[in-house]
Formats: sequence, structure tokens, C-alpha cells
Amino acid sequence: MTGTTFGAVPWGPPLGEPVPRLDGRAKVTGSARYAADHTPAGCAHAWPVPAPVAKGTVTAVHRAAAMAEPGALSVLAHDDAPRLGDADDRTLAVLQSPRIAHRGQVVALAVAETLPAARAMAAAVRIECAPVPPDLELTPEHPRLVTPEGAESAQGDFPAAFHGAQVRIDAVYSIPPLHNHPMEPHAATAQWLGGRLVVFDSSQGSNAVRDALAALFELEPDQVSVVSEHVGGGFGAKGTPRPHVVLAAMAAMAVNRPVKLALPRGLLPALTGYRASTLQRVRLGADTEGRVRAIAHEVDTYTSPLSPDWRERATQPTRSLYAAPHRLTRERVAPLDVPSPSWMRAPGECSGMFAVESAMDELAVACAMDPIELRARNEPDVDPHTGRPFSSRHLVECLRAGADRFGWADRDPAPAMRRQGRLLIGSGVAASTYPAEVIPSSARAHANPGGGFLVEINATDIGTGARTVLAQIAASTLGIGVDELEIDIGRTDLPRAPLAGGSCGTASWGWAVHKACGELSRRIDEHQGAVPAGGLTVTVDTTEDLATDDQYTRRSFGAQFAEVAVDVDTGEARVRRLLGVFAAGRILNPRTARSQLLGGMIMGLSMALTETSTLDLAFGDHPERDLASYHVASCADVREIDVHWLAEEDSRLNPMGSKGIGELGIVGTAAAVTNAIHHATGVRVRDLPAQPDALLEAMIAQGRI
Ligand code: MOS
Repeated sequence: MTGTTFGAVPWGPPLGEPVPRLDGRAKVTGSARYAADHTPAGCAHAWPVPAPVAKGTVTAVHRAAAMAEPGALSVLAHDDAPRLGDADDRTLAVLQSPRIAHRGQVVALAVAETLPAARAMAAAVRIECAPVPPDLELTPEHPRLVTPEGAESAQGDFPAAFHGAQVRIDAVYSIPPLHNHPMEPHAATAQWLGGRLVVFDSSQGSNAVRDALAALFELEPDQVSVVSEHVGGGFGAKGTPRPHVVLAAMAAMAVNRPVKLALPRGLLPALTGYRASTLQRVRLGADTEGRVRAIAHEVDTYTSPLSPDWRERATQPTRSLYAAPHRLTRERVAPLDVPSPSWMRAPGECSGMFAVESAMDELAVACAMDPIELRARNEPDVDPHTGRPFSSRHLVECLRAGADRFGWADRDPAPAMRRQGRLLIGSGVAASTYPAEVIPSSARAHANPGGGFLVEINATDIGTGARTVLAQIAASTLGIGVDELEIDIGRTDLPRAPLAGGSCGTASWGWAVHKACGELSRRIDEHQGAVPAGGLTVTVDTTEDLATDDQYTRRSFGAQFAEVAVDVDTGEARVRRLLGVFAAGRILNPRTARSQLLGGMIMGLSMALTETSTLDLAFGDHPERDLASYHVASCADVREIDVHWLAEEDSRLNPMGSKGIGELGIVGTAAAVTNAIHHATGVRVRDLPAQPDALLEAMIAQGRI
């Protein structure tokens, strides 16, 4: 085997310690500046006008009433907006064409002296359009469903093996559209200074925003500065540049003033991406001892015409999850006239694992086996998809450790056996997994002659604690405390670094920071420990370090346990206890790591029970556009919740030995909850979320109550 192996790195404090967030005080006192907190002198305000139909053409933009509002500056639309250069991402080609690709697409932008004026103007703009009937409904028979290249894999002879299996599970699972809804809506403040464009943007990765703006406005990248110093969450919705930042820059150009645009929450589902709905068929063929011989996972999903290459890659985790000689995965996608879906926390993986981990629970019931034993029995020696070894894989250890902590041994052997008054009580388990990847990054470390260090990298802290953990990595490498260095992140003026996404931020940035600080230490040693008058600066890039041929599958794993109580009168399911046990390499800051894993689990609980939206077939978008109609779990929904991790050593990841944890926590959670609902009630929830009306009906239909 080739590939870099990292020795036992002598990591010392402060790495691995629960260092509180360095920006905690700034955030709670309000001095931390988010994108919309910047108000340059003369700043104007913008408010979008959404397309009123799902498909068609804008035939007229009536501006007179809007321009009569006091403080009105401009109404931009396709007929007068500045022309943009080519964008790879067509969602960014805003106001360039009269064609309407989906309802809610921005067809005009009101710009005014004040925010209320911009809002009043937007309401007064009248859009005339020629609508055409949209194609909105995904069905397994949809004529435009295609299987893109690489979206299919097959090993052995699945049909024969499935047909010949003693025990067969064949079930279809569905997930509705789900929305990211970060606390801070997408916002940008843009300003042209001479020929330069300076933008404060709420983004998970400002380098990509800079590159996109440079291409669209036909500038050199160094003529564009993007600042994302503090970001109030993203969950993938800010992982790539979004239309708001282009609109802000365009408006600033048009009115020749700085412009601020914060998207109203009601437009986030249409403009910032969401988890597209999936229809997933899973087939498992096993012997009576629960040995899976055949596994198939087929997913149908959709995208928009603006994002033709997008799809929920929901079969990806299935490829590497359980051993079975006969395998089949396939993802099909249809272009519909809907808002563009995009990344949402553990895109693909989260959706797929709901289906597969539900099917495994169905198999456990069919074989009358404990679901943990069933998973242990199907543990692969190597990645069944590629034949490569795992760099580390401790799924079974997570399941067993979780079982001990959760009190799994006391679990009733069959469903619907425990009743307390109106409540049926049950417990469920599911596996978690997510890829552990690294992207090239650069970083700079500087030693001051008078003592103290500065570490610079364009990493983004979207609320995870990235700023803090990077300071810990730097301090640990330099052998100092976090208070002896300054860390500067969140600006494109700093060394280029990848986005906060794909759970690879800390691994990617941390590697570069470690390399820069290690090199700086050596340079200081060359000067016998005395930093020369001009200071010492080291800039590094990890592209070459990452170029080694990769012979391993690198993934994090975990096990989630849920206890639910289902009210037989109302059909309401509540999660009483939730436990996650994870194996994610070295945990670099237990305080912020716990918080991220916990946040993922809560988001998964929310996906299981309350989060749902509808692709409305009359209008062509999602009616659930606020936090009242789209219920994200809040404190009252979350009772006892606990996070643990194994001390996992993996020397084939990165110098820190860490795996990403941003997404792992949400993967599998929903299945753990719905598996628990089955154990409580005997009702199998195949369509998320498990809401009271459906659950009540199913319990009645099955004669449970
Ligand atoms: Mo994450 S969905 O890769 O920001």
C-alpha cells in the first residue's frame, strides 16, 4: 500500500483541550460583524422581487409605482441590469434573461435609500409574464429521469441473488424537500472602490465567491475582495456563491453606491438551495441468519434546469457500508421546473442512510435478530465497492459502546411491548458514516520579533469553532498557548483555503496551519531561537502533500440510539433519549466537537419528526417558507441527548489524525428515530417526517390501538 502515513504526532495542549471559542465574547456582546452588519457611508438597500410563476417569460416590468416611493433609486430587471460574464453556475446569472426558470427566482431588484423604502418598492413593482405549464412532479415513471454517468454501480448478479434469498426486504422510502434555514439569512454588502469590488458576504467559502464575482464582472480575482469574517450558519446553503451576492454587487454598480441585500427568510427556500426530495427503493436479500447476500439501493430525485448536474448522491454511503457479494446502486435525476436544490448537511449521505438503515432494521425484524448483531454480522473486511481497506473503521465498536451506555440489553425483543399509560415506548439504532476528505490549502505563519505569532488563512468559521481549533493546532505545533498567537481568518486577502464544507475544513486548513507553524519553528531554531528584527514569515501550500496515490477508503462512523414515546391518542412521537457514539479520529476540541455532533443529531431528530415542506403543484415552490410553518426542532423537542466518541487512532488522515465531524452527526439519526417508532408501535415509517396524523392512522389500521 502506498499513501502517506503520519507518525505518532507529539500533539500536546492546547490541542485536544476544550478551549472556549475565541470569538465567543465578540459574538455574545454583538461586536462580531456579520455580512449585513457592515454599512459603508452612503449605503443603499435592496429587496428582491420574486417570479410569480414557475415557468414562462417576463413580458413587462412596470416600475412607475415603485419609483414613486420616497427614497427610490432603481428597479433593476433583465431589460436594464448590467450584463454579466459567464458563470459556471447558472443560478448566478441573475437578471440576464426574461426567462423564468422557477417560481421565486429573482426577476427584479428594488434599490432604495432605506430598507423600508426598498421593501415598499419591491411590493409596488408589477411583473407581467407569459406563463407556460411547468413540470413539477417526480414519479418513478417520469419520462425525463436519467442516470448520469457514474451514478450506477453493479457487482455480482443482484437479481439472481435477491431472487434466491431466503429473506427479502423490498421497500420504498421517501424524504420531502428539506431546507437549511441557517439562523443568519444570506446577506451581502457590496461596494465598488475604483475598479475594485469589495464584498462582505455570508458564505462558507469566500474564495469561491471571489472567483465567481471576478468571472461575472470580468475582473481579475485580485480586483475582488470578499470578507466572511463571521457567518451565522450555513449547513451547505452557503457552500457555493448564491444569487444575493451577485445582486448586491450588480446593484452597487448600477446605483454607484454601496448596496446591502439581506434575503428575507421567505425567499431562502427558492434561492439558496435545499435537500431535494428522494424516492428510494432498497432491496436486501439475506439468509435466515441475517447474512446479506444482495443489496440494491435505487434513488429517484430531481434538480432544476439551472443546475443540470446536481443530484442527491444518496447511494454513496451504501456502496461502502455492508458486505454483500451482489450489489446494485443507481441514482436517477429528472430536471423539473423547481427551485435549484443544493447541498444540505451531509447531502446524499443523510438521505441515503435513512433508507438503508431503515431497511436494515426491517431485515432485523424479519430475521428476528438484534439490529446491532445484524450489522456486526455484515461488517465488511474491506470497502466492498472498491476493494480498498478502510484507513480505520470502528462502526461495530461504536454500536457496542453505544449499546452499553444506552442500556440496550434491557430492550424488549419484539415491537409494541411496552406501554406506559397513553404512551408506547420503544428504542431504535442506526449507523452513521461520512467521508473523511482533505482539500489542498495554503496558510501563513509569522513570528514577531518582540514575541507573539500571527497565523493567517482564509478559513471560514460558520459557527463551528474553526477559528478556535485552528489556533489550537497552531499553538500546539509552536509549543505555545493560544493566547500567545493571533489567528486571522475569513477574508480573501489571506492565503487561499477551501470552503467550510464537506466536513473537510479543519482537516484541510489544519494541515496547512500545522505545516506553516512547523516550518516557522524550524526557521526560528535556525536563528537560535531569536526572531530577527523583521520577524519571520512562512507561507505554505499542501497541494503536493495531498498528491499521493490514495489506497484507502477514509470515512468516519458512528452509531445512534433513540428512545421514543408515541402517544396512542394523538399519534405524536417524542424522542425521549438520543445517544450518539462516534469514531471520527482524534477529537481536537471536545467542547466544540460535542456541540457540532449534537447539532447534527438534533437536525436529524428534526428531520425525523417535524421538518417537512411540500413542492406545491399549483404554484411550483414550497409554501413552508418561515420558521413557523417549517418546524426546526427547538429546546422543547430535545430532551436527553448525549454524545460520546471512541479514542480512534488513524495515522493515514492528516497530521492531526482527525476526521470531519460537521456532517456525521445528522447521518442515520432519522432512521434511529423511526426504527424506535417501529419498536414502540409496530408501525414502520417509510415516509418522513413521522407526523401524528399518519402515525395515528397507521396504528389504527394495524389494530395497535
Ligand atoms: Mo456541507 S452540506 O458540505 O456545507
